[in-house]
Amino acid sequence: MNSGLRHMLRDDDLDHEEQLEVLRLGMAFRANPYLSRPFLGPQAVAIIFDKPSTRTRTSFCVGVAQLGGYPMVIDSPGSQLGRGEPVADTANVLTRMTSAIVWRTFGQDRVETMAAHATVPVINALTDSFHPCQVLADFLTLAQHRGGVDALAGMTIAYLGDAANNMANSYLLGGAVAGMNVRIAGPHGFLPDPSLVEQARTLAAENGGSILVTTDPVQAVEDADCVFTDTWVSMGEEDQYAVRSHPFLPYQVNARLMAHARPDALFQHCLPAYRGREVTAEVIDGPQSVVWDEAENRLHAQKALMTWLVARSRGDESLLQG
Ligand code: CP
Ligand code: NVA
Repeated sequence: MNSGLRHMLRDDDLDHEEQLEVLRLGMAFRANPYLSRPFLGPQAVAIIFDKPSTRTRTSFCVGVAQLGGYPMVIDSPGSQLGRGEPVADTANVLTRMTSAIVWRTFGQDRVETMAAHATVPVINALTDSFHPCQVLADFLTLAQHRGGVDALAGMTIAYLGDAANNMANSYLLGGAVAGMNVRIAGPHGFLPDPSLVEQARTLAAENGGSILVTTDPVQAVEDADCVFTDTWVSMGEEDQYAVRSHPFLPYQVNARLMAHARPDALFQHCLPAYRGREVTAEVIDGPQSVVWDEAENRLHAQKALMTWLVARSRGDESLLQG
């Protein structure tokens, strides 16, 4: 196998085959939670939060423990990182005592700096720009409900709402890597960066998929296999609550909009959800919604990701066998 230090900072850090390997491993962890123990010792994994979290915190803590390790949670207000200690210095310290570093923070440059100075895998647990662990879990949920990992390529996924946020960016890149037809819809002023769309188009073309960015919510969901949305007000944007309502109203995922997707289309939401805003209760609590499986799949997908990154970084394929 190809070895060498590997990180997961954005969705295209895995190529098509590698994403499939991680998702297959995720399915294997769903079936057997104790399939592999790369952190046996227990070895410590640093899990750092500069922003709040319920699912990411729980799934990484439980996941590291099930992989035989010790989850060391650091809330940044209680650390020197939170007082401005340089990221590079933090990386130099953590990398000598831990086997992986998981970080939820603001700028993408911060996880990139951490990775540049670490000798263990660094995992982006959400930045302002990307949320790649969420998208792996979401694709695992599609695989769980729609014919397995090999059925993902060629599927059509639609994301509606704040199309300039971390989830939109991650669906663009992650879906392009998977070879999906990715449709992103949001209002003018809240659409993805054109350079990122171009990167996604190139990747999608390589993998047999396509990219559509539109302001038309109906065009986006037409015959989609899965409809996704996310909060209209991401962490750190709370002061924009008033202005982040009116432009997004046509993108609310409700029964009328879901009727344009395939009759068996699924609904996913990374959570936390705001019923009556980006999604109606009728949809998120209805029969097409798989949001609780999606939340559970954070655990299985991230165990697979951590195991895969450690196996590649150490050149130890036996960790992938169970
Ligand atoms: N979806 C997600 O990342 O949830 P948390 O913010 O609770 O971790
Ligand atoms: N876009 C949301 C995702 C939360 C998991 C945020 O960044 O707050």
